Amino acid sequence: MQKGIIASIDKVMYSCGLEILHPGGIEKTDEMAKQCNIDETKIVLDIGSGKGFTACYLAEKYKCQVIGIDLSGDMIDYSYQLAKKKKLTDKVSFKKMDATNLDYEDDFFDIVFSECVTVLLDQKKALKESIRVTKKGGFVADLEMIWKKPPIEELIKKTYDIWGGFKTVTLEEWQNVFIENGLTNIKPVDFSYKMLNMKKDMMKQIGLFGLIKMGFIILNKKDIRKAFIEYQKIFNDYVDYLGYGYIVGQKPH
Ligand SMILES: C[S@@+](CC[C@H](N)C(=O)[O-])C[C@H]1O[C@@H](n2cnc3c(N)ncnc32)[C@H](O)[C@@H]1O
Repeated sequence: MQKGIIASIDKVMYSCGLEILHPGGIEKTDEMAKQCNIDETKIVLDIGSGKGFTACYLAEKYKCQVIGIDLSGDMIDYSYQLAKKKKLTDKVSFKKMDATNLDYEDDFFDIVFSECVTVLLDQKKALKESIRVTKKGGFVADLEMIWKKPPIEELIKKTYDIWGGFKTVTLEEWQNVFIENGLTNIKPVDFSYKMLNMKKDMMKQIGLFGLIKMGFIILNKKDIRKAFIEYQKIFNDYVDYLGYGYIVGQKPH
C-alpha cells in the first residue's frame, strides 16, 4: 500500500483531475505496448492501474481484453466509472488485488504491464508474480522512475522516507533483474530527457479548473503544502540522479 506523502500527493492530484500518474504519459504507454506486440487477440494485466486510464486506453485503441488491479478500492470504483463512460465494460474490468500476491493462475496473460508502482513495492516479489502470470512467449513491461546514475546514500534514504518506501534502481540494474528472472529479448528505454516536460504535461492534463483547485488545497492545507514542497525539493536538489525509463522482456517459450 502506498504510504507517506506520496500517497497524499497522489490523492490530491487525482482529485484535481489528473488521470495518468506515470512519467512519459500515454505516449510512453503506447510505445511500451507496441514493444509487447499488443493487438486485439491479447489479454493484458495492468498492475497498480490507478484511475484506469491506461487499461481503458489500451482496450479502446487495440481492442484487447484488459484487467486492471489496484490495492485501492477508490481507484477501482473510479476505473469502473471510466470504463462505463467509455462503453468499454465488455473489454475492461478492474479488481482490488495486491500486486505481490496475484489471484491468477500461472501463464494466464499475454502482456503484464506495471506503470509507476513497482518502485513502491517489494520489487523482486512483484516481478516474480508478474512473470508467473505471464504466458510463455508473452511480455512483461515496467515503466518507472529510475536512477540515472548510482545514487548517494542520502538520496536513497530521503526518497525512501519521504516518498513512502520508494526504492528504485538504474536501468542497467533493472535489466540485470529481468535477466536473473529468466526474461529474454530485453529492451530497456531511457527517456529521462522527458523529465523537464513532466510538470508541464501534468498541468496540461489537469487544466485551469484543476490547477485552481490544487492551488486552493495547497494554500489551505498546511500538511499538503509541506508535502508538495518536500516532494518538489527532491526533484530540484537531485536532478542529476532522477530519471525515467521503461523495460520490456519476454518470457521464454
Ligand atoms: C503512482 S500510482 C500509478 C497509477 C497508474 N499505474 C498510472 O500510471 O497512472 C500507483 C498506484 O499503485 C497502487 N498500488 C500501490 N501498492 C499496490 C499494491 N501492492 N498492489 C496493487 N496496487 C498498488 C496505488 O493504489 C496507485 O493507484
